[in-house]
Amino acid sequence: MEPKKSKITVRNVSRCFLSPEGKRIDAVQDIKFNVEDAYSREGRDIGEFRVLLGPSGCGKSTLLRMIAGLDRPDTGEVLVNDQPVHGPGRDRGMVFQKYTSFPWLTVAGNIAYGLKINGVGDAKRKETVAQLIDAVGLKGFENSYPETLSGGMQQRVAIARTLALRPAVILMDEPFGALDAQTRSEMQQLLLRVWDESASTILFVTHDVEEAIYLADRIFIMSSHPGTIVEDVQVPFERPRDLGLKERNEFHELQSYVLGRLRRAPGAGGNVRVSV
Ligand SMILES: Nc1ncnc2c1ncn2[C@@H]1O[C@H](COP(=O)(O)OP(=O)(O)O)[C@@H](O)[C@H]1O
Ligand SMILES: [Mg+2]
Repeated sequence: MEPKKSKITVRNVSRCFLSPEGKRIDAVQDIKFNVEDAYSREGRDIGEFRVLLGPSGCGKSTLLRMIAGLDRPDTGEVLVNDQPVHGPGRDRGMVFQKYTSFPWLTVAGNIAYGLKINGVGDAKRKETVAQLIDAVGLKGFENSYPETLSGGMQQRVAIARTLALRPAVILMDEPFGALDAQTRSEMQQLLLRVWDESASTILFVTHDVEEAIYLADRIFIMSSHPGTIVEDVQVPFERPRDLGLKERNEFHELQSYVLGRLRRAPGAGGNVRVSV
C-alpha cells in the first residue's frame, strides 16, 4: 500500500505581532502537525475532519490564515499537498464567520462565480450549481440576493460556493459563530452531510467544545500566549452522526475531558464555551 500523503503540513510555524503599545504578541509558537490524505470508509475515500479548538485569542485564525496563504509565518513552513504555500490557491477554500457572499449576485450567481472565472462551461456550471443548491437546502432561493436571507442561509451559500470548486482542503474559521443555537445545530448536521459526499479535508476552527466533538475525527486543543497545540484528541464516535449523539454519556464524558484539558492549558482565560 502506498504511504498516505500529507494534505496539510505545518512545520514549526511561529508568528508574532506587535500590539499598539509595541508589546510582542506570540500569536502562534512552534506549531507542528500533519493532516494526512483521505482515509477510506466502505470503499470510499473521505477526507479527514480536523478541528482546532481553543479560547479566543489563542491564534486559531492566525494559523488558518497562514494555511490559506493570506498571511506568512515568521519562521517555519506550511505545505498543502506537499507544496509550499505562498499565497491563496484553488486547492484551498475558506469559509469565515462573517458572511462573505457578493451582495450584487444572486444565490445561484454566488455559487457559480468561482466556476465561471475558472472557465467551467455553461452546462456543467448549471448542473453543479443545481446540485449544490439542493445539497445545502436552498431550493427556491436561487434568485434571491444574500442580504435578504437569514444568517444560516447565507452561510449555506458560502459553503456551497466553497464546495463548487472541489478544493482538496476547506478551511473554516468559526463559520457558525454568529448563528443561534438551533440554526447552528442544523448547520453542523448539514456540514457533516455535504462533507461526507465530498472528498475534502476540513480544518475547522471553533471555541465551542460541543461543536468540536460533534464534528471532528480529531481535535487539536490549543492554549494561548503563546498559541501552541497542547493535545491531539481522537474522537471515537462512528459516522454518520446525528444530533442524538450529543445526548449520549460517552459524548458528555469526552466533553468534560476536553473542557478540563482546556482549563488546565496555559493562558486559558475561561472564555471557552460549552454549549448545551
Ligand atoms: N494583525 C494583527 N496585529 C496585531 N495583533 C494581532 C493581529 N492578528 C492577531 N493578533 C493577536 O494575535 C493573537 C491571536 O489572534 P487570533 O489568531 O485572531 O486568535 P483567535 O482566532 O484564536 O481568536 C491575539 O492576541 C491577537 O490580538
Ligand atoms: Mg479567530
